[in-house]
This record gives sequence, structure tokens and C-alpha cells, in this order.
Amino acid sequence: MTIPIKEFEARRRQLMRMMGEGAIAIISAAPVRVRNRDADYRYRQDSDFWYLTGFPEPEAVAALIPGRPQGEYVLFCRERDPDMETWNGRRAGQQGAVERYGADDSFPIADIDDILPGLMENRERVYCTLGKDDDFDRRLMNWVNALRARVRSGQAAPHDFFSLEYHLHEMRLFKSKAELEAMREAADIAINGHRRMMAVCQPGMYEYEIEAEFIYTARRRNAELAYQSIVGGGANGCILHYVDNQDRLRDGELILIDAGAEYDYYASDITRTFPVSGRFSEAQREVYEVVLAAQEAAINKVMPGNSWDDPHSAALSELVAGLIELGLLKGKKADLIREGAYRRFYMHRTGHWLGLDVHDVGEYKIDGEWRQFEPGMVTTVEPGLYISAADDIPERFHNIGVRIEDDVVVTRDGHRVLTEAAPKSVEAIEALVGTESR
Ligand code: GLY
Ligand code: MN
Ligand code: MN
Repeated sequence: MTIPIKEFEARRRQLMRMMGEGAIAIISAAPVRVRNRDADYRYRQDSDFWYLTGFPEPEAVAALIPGRPQGEYVLFCRERDPDMETWNGRRAGQQGAVERYGADDSFPIADIDDILPGLMENRERVYCTLGKDDDFDRRLMNWVNALRARVRSGQAAPHDFFSLEYHLHEMRLFKSKAELEAMREAADIAINGHRRMMAVCQPGMYEYEIEAEFIYTARRRNAELAYQSIVGGGANGCILHYVDNQDRLRDGELILIDAGAEYDYYASDITRTFPVSGRFSEAQREVYEVVLAAQEAAINKVMPGNSWDDPHSAALSELVAGLIELGLLKGKKADLIREGAYRRFYMHRTGHWLGLDVHDVGEYKIDGEWRQFEPGMVTTVEPGLYISAADDIPERFHNIGVRIEDDVVVTRDGHRVLTEAAPKSVEAIEALVGTESR
């Protein structure tokens, strides 16, 4: 594990400081999700729960109780059970929760209804996440009601409920050294995957064969996919969330690949676009150079003090200038931007926070204003142009979909691009694509 146990402890302490005396936080592990009948999806812990506990098992609830003399961190989890463990894998149990995961106290999850209301007693405020898991919401209300029923015997039930996410997601937005190390590894794995996909690509292959190279690269280094890979040739590159990956790649087409790795729970998110044959056509190169210039302009705006919107504005300015130059938009740049005329070709924003979740948590605005970049934040920068075939578009531009996406850390004096080793200049791409089969 890249994140030391002490760091999880420090996170819990920081959160409890923000909550203050008289509060309790209750956080639930992610449920196991059924894929079909008896087959489950591979288990992935809830990102908030993981951030605070580093505990990888389902059927667990963490309670953080600042100032509780017998221990501030109580973890409910499954009991050891030799039979169940033979079928479904090892469990930490209560002893493991304390010894290996730093809980002050641990109880069987089966006993939670008896124990948790007592821990909430005389706490005024509950910090929790409601609305994410119906089952958890219901159980939480049962615990509170159990306590309310005992009010006449002199016990006080909490009366205020606060969103845990407010403090927690602000913490998650700022990455520590250890987190950046995990993200660097996630980036490095994805870089290798993208390089491999470029190297093996040749006309006649199927999109899923290219996708397979990424999966192989990720799993060999103990990473998961951060999300379903988008591998789209030709017109499929103009479908933003194309994940079918079923079609055959043809000579003369571009292929757009958005694929990221998750290493030790941290995501990378890279998009590269390249010609299936290894050579850009004139029109493809023209469009590609516009997107690349937009991406570089946007990346250069990532620095402390600049606003979250600055990279997007910089990208738009380059994209619209390029679209005018290519003859795909007509009019004045400022007007086209103000009127949103570019949306036919560029219909998403230029980035999002990145971390434990690929679309990571953290506010983008504060008091109605775009927030400023600060050191430790990580954002993607991912402009694109998507030109579907249409009668009013010159044929040479038909079905050119280009996106270029990198992961960028805000540093004290600017930024660092975690993913820059994934080839993206026209020359670097042409030098690599198809080399495996040449
Ligand atoms: N791969 C998801 C995104 O780029 O936002
Ligand atoms: Mn992205
Ligand atoms: Mn992406």
C-alpha cells in the first residue's frame, strides 16, 4: 500500500477536529454489487470510506467520535469465520481491525444495532452521507429512533444532521505526497498502456483488441481500470462515451482512446488520438494541431492563483480560432465563443478533479465564483474537437474526433504533468504507431 497507515489516522484526526466535540461521524463501506445472478462485480471500496479507514472489506461501518475516552475510532466489521473465509476469502475480524487498521475498538457488524445507538448517545450532531445507499439511510434512522425511544430515561439523541461530504471532500481535493506517489504510478501504468496500444495498432484490427492491450498492461502491474476504456475508430471517436469497442479499424481513420488505470485506489485518466495507419492525413493533422495547441494553452493556465475556468477559456480561445482557420466556423471569435457556436464540435468542459474517483470530489465554485487553483490539487486537461459527417462540412473533415487528455498536478510555482510521457506530438505519434508490426 502506498498510503501509510499513519496518514489514514491523520485524516481521521483532521476530520474530527473539523467536526468538533459533541459530534459523531458514521460512514459505511460500499455494498457488494451483483453483476448477474451469482456473479458479483469485483469489490471496490467506497472512496470516502477508504480515504478515512484504508479498510478494504464490505459490510463495515466506521464511527468517528471525537473526545470519546474509550477510543475515538470504532470499526464494525465482519467476524472471522473459517467456513465463510474458505469460500469467499480472508477477513480481518475485530482483532485485525485494531491491529492492522488502527481502530481503537472494533465490534462485529452483526451487533451494530445494539452498539451504535449507545455510541450516538449524548452526541448532538451526526455527520453522514444520506441519499447514497437506501439501506444505510434506513439503518441510520433506526439507530437514531432507537435512541429517541430512550430519551425518557435521560439519554439525549442527536438532533442535527450534517453532510460529511462538505469537510471530507475538501480534504480529498488536496493530495499529499503519498497520494501523488500513487497517482504517479497510476499515470505511469496508463502511459505504458497507451504506448502499447499505439505500438500494436494497425488497420484491420478490432477496437477490442487494442483495448485488451491496455487491460493487460494494467493488470500486470496490479492496477484496475479507472473506468471503462473508450476505444473508438473513425466515427466512433465522435461519440463521447463510446465503450462498445466492437468495430474494425480501417486504414485512414483516427482512433480515439480514453483509458486510465487505478492504482492503490487512485486514478489516472489519459486520452490519446492517433491515426490507425501511423500517418495523419492533412485534414486530421490540421484538426489535431488545433486540439494540441488548445491543450497546451490550457495546461499553461494551471497554476496557483489562476481560476478553475482559466484553462477552459484558454482552450476555447484556441479551439474557436482553429475552427475559424479551418473554415468550420464563420464569424468573430469573441462572438462565436459568447454564442456557444463551437458546441457543435466541442460539447464538454476542459477538465475535472482527479483522485480516488476519476471524476473526483471537491467544489469547482466557492460562493458562486470559480475557485482558484492551489498546490496539491490534481485536474485533467482534456479539450477535443468532434466533427461528425454532415452535408455542410467538407468531406475531408468527416468523422475526425480528437481529444487529448493529461493529468496535471498544481505545484507551488505552477504545475507538473503526470502523464506527459504518453506520446502526443504528431512526430512522436507517427514514430510509434504500428512499430510492433513493422
Ligand atoms: N474518462 C472520463 C473522462 O475523461 O472524463
Ligand atoms: Mn477526464
Ligand atoms: Mn478520460
